[in-house]
Amino acid sequence: MKSPDLPIRSLEARYYTDPQIFEAEKSGTLASTWQFAGHASQLENPGDYFTFEIAGEHLFCIRTRDDEIKGFYNVCQHRAHQLVQGQGNCRLLVCPYHAWTYELNGRLRGGPNIQVVDGFNKSEICLSSVRIENFCGFLFANLDSDAEPMDDWFPGARDELQAFVPDIDSLKPIEWVEIPERCNWKVSIENYSECYHCQLNHPTFSQGVVKPDTYDIQPQGHCLRHTTECQNLDAMTYPIDLSANEHAGEYSSWFLWPMFSFQVYPGNVLNTYHWRAIDHEHVVVWRGWYSVDNSDRETVLALARQDRETTVAEDIQLVESVQRGLKSRGYVPGPLVLDPSCGVKSEHSIRALQQWMREGVTNQVKSHKSSRQ
Ligand code: FES
Ligand SMILES: [Fe+2]
Repeated sequence: MKSPDLPIRSLEARYYTDPQIFEAEKSGTLASTWQFAGHASQLENPGDYFTFEIAGEHLFCIRTRDDEIKGFYNVCQHRAHQLVQGQGNCRLLVCPYHAWTYELNGRLRGGPNIQVVDGFNKSEICLSSVRIENFCGFLFANLDSDAEPMDDWFPGARDELQAFVPDIDSLKPIEWVEIPERCNWKVSIENYSECYHCQLNHPTFSQGVVKPDTYDIQPQGHCLRHTTECQNLDAMTYPIDLSANEHAGEYSSWFLWPMFSFQVYPGNVLNTYHWRAIDHEHVVVWRGWYSVDNSDRETVLALARQDRETTVAEDIQLVESVQRGLKSRGYVPGPLVLDPSCGVKSEHSIRALQQWMREGVTNQVKSHKSSRQ
């Protein structure tokens, strides 16, 4: 007998169009997952800092005198003025409102006239910290103080990345390009996470280096791992030394739920996707490109340009059309195409994603509490 639950259907449209769902995600998914903050190379010296935002919270990362990278909420513990803006370097953190001063490790050092206050215990006052992990030079923050470490969320990903990009820890960003998309962040993430649309929409994908029949995307914890065999490597626009290491001729990608992806092109060339949800119908995608010493700068920038003119441009059209469609009264969520043998023409990766998307809304109360402890 046919199960009433089959076929499995795509997520209801309101998940992508309802501002209340986005609000729920701010205290659910976005407040309880690892989100990209910035790159360790932005914090080379003690006192270097940069600000960022997650789920509406203003935060900053700073390198301490003990050479540790710490994350804090960007708020003074006196009467709530913000402490720092943008990025820069400081000897101490001095609040611009009444000049309370904090050490780089967040401890209160002093403030004008505080010695007159009975019972004022300086050592009890410290900036509120936020968890930071350094993942191959990429800094991620999690508002949930009870969150599992990234290696538990994304098993194997760190070791695999180090094998695919042997110099990953010494890379520095050479370009971060901002690409605004008029769609819900989940539309963009889903589009990145299936290749059922690739043959029709990405001619460079189908006729290029990737062998489409071997393409697959499989969950690895909360990582969606893209794997494929390659072909036509001699047609690449840059030279590849296949003898350099065991993965020199390979393409792979590690999508880290919910909003970051490492992508490696043949020749061990790393690039990243970093999504930032603006509201329920706007997302910005940052495409990042890297180099160790800038010797390959022109090659990498040419690759970045080619990528923007092809895959990125093609995908913008798709995701913005989907967002318009999701607002249509005429849309009923259709069945996902789940091929038992998976592969390039299957949407099994979307099923996994949509499960996490549902949980990220229903688990909001629990996550909210734990992030406030
Ligand atoms: S609010 Fe920061 S010193 Fe008063
Ligand atoms: Fe695409």
